[in-house]
Amino acid sequence: MIRPVLMTALLAAATPAPDSLQLNEGNIPQIVEAMTLKEKATLLVGSGFKSMLAGNLGEKGVLVPGAAGTTRAIPRLGIPAVVLSDGPAGVRINPTRKRSPGKTFYATAFPTGTVLASTWNEDMLQEVGSAMGSEALEYGIDVLLGPGMNLMRNPLNGRNFEYYSEDPVLAGKMAAAMIRGIQSRGVGTSAKHFALNNQETNRAGNDARVDDKTARELYLKGFEIAVREAAPWTLMSSYNKINGEYAQSNRWLLTRVLREEWDFGGLVMSDWTGKRDTGAQVAAGNDLMEPGLNSQIREIVRQVRRGVLTESEVDACVTRVLELVVKTPRFREYAYSEEPDLQAHALVAREAAAEGIVLLRNEGVLPFGGDVSTVAVFGVAGYSCILGGTGSGHVNAAHAVQLPDALQARGITAEPALRGIYENYLARNRVSQGMLGAGIPAEFAVDPSPWTGADAAVFVIGRQAGESGDRHVEDDFLLTDIERANLEAISSAFRAAGKKVIVVLNIGGVIETASWKDLADAIVLSWQPGEEGFAALAGILCGETCPSGRLPMTFPIRYSDVPSSENFPYNPEPEDIMGPFKKHRDRGRPNVDFTEYAEKLGVGYRYFSTAGKEVSYPFGFGLSYTVFSYDSISAAVAEDGSAEVRVCVTNRGNAAGKEVVQVYLARPEAAVPEAGAPVTRPALELKGFAKTSLLAPGESQTVTVRIAPYILASFDAESGSWSLPQEPLFLAGPNCAELPLSAGCRDL
Ligand code: GLC
Repeated sequence: MIRPVLMTALLAAATPAPDSLQLNEGNIPQIVEAMTLKEKATLLVGSGFKSMLAGNLGEKGVLVPGAAGTTRAIPRLGIPAVVLSDGPAGVRINPTRKRSPGKTFYATAFPTGTVLASTWNEDMLQEVGSAMGSEALEYGIDVLLGPGMNLMRNPLNGRNFEYYSEDPVLAGKMAAAMIRGIQSRGVGTSAKHFALNNQETNRAGNDARVDDKTARELYLKGFEIAVREAAPWTLMSSYNKINGEYAQSNRWLLTRVLREEWDFGGLVMSDWTGKRDTGAQVAAGNDLMEPGLNSQIREIVRQVRRGVLTESEVDACVTRVLELVVKTPRFREYAYSEEPDLQAHALVAREAAAEGIVLLRNEGVLPFGGDVSTVAVFGVAGYSCILGGTGSGHVNAAHAVQLPDALQARGITAEPALRGIYENYLARNRVSQGMLGAGIPAEFAVDPSPWTGADAAVFVIGRQAGESGDRHVEDDFLLTDIERANLEAISSAFRAAGKKVIVVLNIGGVIETASWKDLADAIVLSWQPGEEGFAALAGILCGETCPSGRLPMTFPIRYSDVPSSENFPYNPEPEDIMGPFKKHRDRGRPNVDFTEYAEKLGVGYRYFSTAGKEVSYPFGFGLSYTVFSYDSISAAVAEDGSAEVRVCVTNRGNAAGKEVVQVYLARPEAAVPEAGAPVTRPALELKGFAKTSLLAPGESQTVTVRIAPYILASFDAESGSWSLPQEPLFLAGPNCAELPLSAGCRDL
């Protein structure tokens, strides 16, 4: 007779006790079944700030010091914590660790989102994404918190530097390419900030009030493209409200639109918010609360026990967290090296910058000819490049190429004594690239007259902005008085000496250009081009690279021309720029507690082209060192409503170059809004684009632009449905103001 104790032991061995149940890709339902409610709640809440603040709070138990956050582990069931790290321009982690003296953990500062979008080159973004994903992988990161892809509703949004465009098709296609690139390395992404996070002022309390059609066609369309074309592992729900409901607990947004309509299969994590109505967030489909507070775990348990939240709603989120975990390198126990190939990635960063730099003006001065061997570089940013914006989008780079060195490498000397003056100023003022805010560089001006012996003048104007604050008009969008005086002095002194003046814009967002562009013979928009950006700039100035960047947004003549300027914070008070952890009391302040998107579709060229309003530089604009002819176009529509537009272009100049062919849907009948009226039917909408390969002089290329029905269609708010244009008219050309070719549609 077998003794009872032996029987128990035998039985136990036969049926695995729950504790021996370990997570794998095939047993997620069983794991969920085996979890206690407390464990489930724990999995939906991040581990807090100890990872991001490891530099101050200590590194004990922190997987990747400086990473933005992690999920929580449940060892009993073999569920590891996974690591979430910023950002859109590269991995943001602590460059040194107390626990690893002598070792460094730098990352590549890639060009910012705006530079990448200015390339209009999906292959390039996929390549940047692959390099960025490789760095995340080798640093032990499981999800990279990017791309940032909110629409540039207004030029003064502080975070525009890390976003792509005023147009949802360009933004969506760029984001999709980035996501594909990063995820090709087996690391996840988080398309952010979903959605309508279009200002930084009171970002965690502001209510974006927008009509359905505008939301669908403008502010959600880019995310829709990214989801449908690249399947990001995660999305990040934004701080703000949308029509009165926080995005993070907005079931219409996170479940109805994102999952039921767009068939999104991934996870939604919140942006780094304090505790809100956690139960409502879970019920809406916000799966993971980041950075995570213990009180949120208790709240979930409490709300299930009270029946306010059902356990099946919790289980849906738990399942999605587990589906994310099993995909991660950490779950797969990837042995990361902590030594990514920064040298190889620096070259990728340089190439991307070279394709994203935009030549705005060139009165026969660029590229430098053999007659230029010395240049006088003015402007603090000329000696301290602003690599990227501030906040979570910052990257700790090991190096940054400065313009004088990059020019020297190409045989052009920057006046050494002038360099000494600026570098002395920088040393005295310890102005680092993160500090170059509006006005700082302009407070320092140098009399140009002693330097007119140089062959040309280069004046670099710098601007800085970033997370949690919007820009100002005075001394930011506009040149400061000292900048303007310095430019005028440089221009008159060098022109009097028969020399040329080149202005470089090392900026993160649009500034005013119309009032001073004639003072410069050339204007090169480098944006915030990353650690290798000024090497790329020197390559363009010296003709090594033919500029092929195109504007992903409009440069208006004046800020007040921008329709949303009527409804955007203007010089907000510091107390309005409250962080996401302060309790927001809605005091009914326009553009702070709520923002009316009264302009509707009147954003960027959708307004300026429809209203026929002049701009300084139009959407899609960019000069080259060669010229392209637009030779032919054909368009056809298939049964499924997709369209195909073929365009042939030829390089008619003397330099090899790349052209960005842009295809717009035209509505000749679009009503011209009287001043101030909203735009509900834009005269033009970008529907696709293609960048040619490098074409030699005389070489032609026919590009094919395919347009999916969901991109071609427009939304009818009445019926809540999408409809395709009956007889679409397509226009093609180099930018929204130059569209020489047109084609109606024949059936495919
Ligand atoms: C920030 C940003 C978000 C970032 C997150 C983690 O507040 O809004 O873009 O990924 O917190 O740093």
